[in-house]
Amino acid sequence: MDLIDPFGRTIRDLRISITDRCNFRCTYCMPEEGMKWLTRPEVLTYEEIERVTSVFVNRFGVRSVRLTGGEPTVRAHLPVLVEKLARIGLDDFSITTNGSTFKSVASDLFAAGLQRANISLDTLKRDRFEQMTRRDDLDNVLAGIDAAISAGFSPVKVNAVIQRGVNDDEIVDLATFGRERGVEMRFIEFMPLDAEGNWDSSQVLSQDEIVSAIQKVYPLEQMPARGAAPADRWRYLDGGGVVGVIPTVTKPFCGDCDRVRLTADGQFRTCLFATEEFDLMSMLRNDATDDQIADAIIAAVATKWAGHRIGQVNFIRPKRTMSQIGG
Ligand code: GTP
Ligand code: 5AD
Ligand code: SF4
Repeated sequence: MDLIDPFGRTIRDLRISITDRCNFRCTYCMPEEGMKWLTRPEVLTYEEIERVTSVFVNRFGVRSVRLTGGEPTVRAHLPVLVEKLARIGLDDFSITTNGSTFKSVASDLFAAGLQRANISLDTLKRDRFEQMTRRDDLDNVLAGIDAAISAGFSPVKVNAVIQRGVNDDEIVDLATFGRERGVEMRFIEFMPLDAEGNWDSSQVLSQDEIVSAIQKVYPLEQMPARGAAPADRWRYLDGGGVVGVIPTVTKPFCGDCDRVRLTADGQFRTCLFATEEFDLMSMLRNDATDDQIADAIIAAVATKWAGHRIGQVNFIRPKRTMSQIGG
């Protein structure tokens, strides 16, 4: 049966965070110190992730899975998980990574059945990269992007979170980078999910501002409606490829959302900004049947809300950071 929420949206995409840990400390996501990590027993095992995924695939026809974190590649033996999930039968199987170690794992992950990779890169300047991620790893990320392309991942997308006064002067340079490397550059509006609670709407560079900055240098034509995906897309008129913008704050796309999320500690979330979680971990560890797990998922999806309320008086920040929820 299809998994349909109260607003008529069919759930087709499962985003699985496989760890809350990360080897970066991006300022828009984590504090420098003081993160409290999940302990090993608190994290779903690969077998448990496989079990939940198989319920989504076999009961609800979900065929699209993305692995996220934290940083998913810090989890040991990742190709083992990829192989298990690929075997269940997915049409679209992807990862979101910071790319820093992708050079060493890309070909194994691709061979195990992973198809697409989205890699984060917010700046091309080494000093700024170190300020934003608190790690001196720009060259490793650039090598990770090259490795993703050579391993066969297709398409490779590159994500840049743009913050006013931080990296908004690099929009055109990043667009140029995407054109030259043949990857789809995507600019992301800064969302209120930073760990330190410093988000302020004045720091958000809007989709309109981002597109007009690119348009001044590279004429663009908007592509037809995006479907359920977060990114609006534009084509370079000179044939230089495609660029995307994810306008969570200024043009929410919740009306077409088809996503649900599983956190590393086995909590099921029906929205990135949800304030409620559903405990699948205890069900898995207390011998629940597939029927019982499927029923819990149906009940949770029945609570999926129409959309986030960023910018409205009744917006409540989720208790957890982006790295704990999984982007
Ligand atoms: P594609 O399948 O390649 O389109 O990937 P994606 O854009 O869905 O995933 P990715 O992990 O690359 O995320 C890019 C940005 O979109 C990140 O900042 C995510 O947090 C954000 N994003 C992903 N899903 C959602 C969502 O459901 N709601 C909101 N507001 N943002 C989302
Ligand atoms: N706002 C927007 N995007 C964010 N990401 C992490 N934190 C934020 C935030 N506060 C992005 C990362 C990565 C994806 C998982 O989410 O840069 O591309
Ligand atoms: Fe790590 Fe990604 Fe968060 Fe940066 S955005 S700290 S790379 S999880």
